[in-house]
Amino acid sequence: MLLESFEFLLTPTTPLARKYGFLYSSISLRHRYHRQKKNWIPHLKNCQEVFLETAQSLPQRKSVVVLGSAHLHEIPLHLLMDTFEQVTLVDVIHPLKHHLQSKRYSRLKLITMDLTQALDQLQSLNTLEDLESLAKKLAGEQIFHFEADLIVSANLMSQLALLPLDAVEKKIKRTLELSEKDSICTQFAETHLKNLKGCTGAKLIYSDREVIYRDKQGELMYTGHYDVNFANYKKLREWNWMLAPLKEASKDYSIEMKIEAYKG
Ligand SMILES: C[S@@+](CC[C@H](N)C(=O)[O-])C[C@H]1O[C@@H](n2cnc3c(N)ncnc32)[C@H](O)[C@@H]1O
Repeated sequence: MLLESFEFLLTPTTPLARKYGFLYSSISLRHRYHRQKKNWIPHLKNCQEVFLETAQSLPQRKSVVVLGSAHLHEIPLHLLMDTFEQVTLVDVIHPLKHHLQSKRYSRLKLITMDLTQALDQLQSLNTLEDLESLAKKLAGEQIFHFEADLIVSANLMSQLALLPLDAVEKKIKRTLELSEKDSICTQFAETHLKNLKGCTGAKLIYSDREVIYRDKQGELMYTGHYDVNFANYKKLREWNWMLAPLKEASKDYSIEMKIEAYKG
């Protein structure tokens, strides 16, 4: 408890990250990882294998950029540092340990940024139409540009629309229809892909593409999926990730994700 309080106080954050609870989510994610490490091993192994296979296929391995790096549970820092000369981590919040490591290793750089450029505009969203216009406007913008031998979008794509959707639901005081949410998720994901395409270097993207809820008996309760056009990307593999077995997120259901990995 004392350690956590220090972590809350000492982790560098931007006002935006604090406002939208990214510090809290980051610390919760680490706790969930420690509780569920055993269940997550097949997922982590898949992430590391697609990363190594992609890295080995490159003509050179000088630099790598990881978008949505979080705690690097999926591609550990030592693997990145052993494979590439320069490592850049990009996230809206970085854990304290990465700040400390970046001071120690000049080969490690942190970039703190909102990869949607939507977060500082959430307060002005009053309706779903406002969010749709914002998503449309952002789709025409160059939000980020990186140059590296490899740019990894690390389980980030499905997260990008979550806070904007949440902000609108709070304003309009109703839960959005699944089709409304899916359409916004698709738009944010495609803007992310378009920006990645504009980056210089090979790309590796892995992301959850489907969520599966099962009840206590293991019977299917719900599946959700959002469309994304991965034209010009090559599918490397797909796997299932038991994110939260029964009693982790709820005593009534488990949550599993279907992950897909693409190279471009
Ligand atoms: C599921 S985690 C990624 C897990 C990570 N790849 C790992 O190995 O632990 C998603 C990450 O995306 C980041 N994120 C979510 N929305 C973001 C945004 N708009 N801009 C930048 N990072 C964002 C979160 O802070 C979080 O660290």
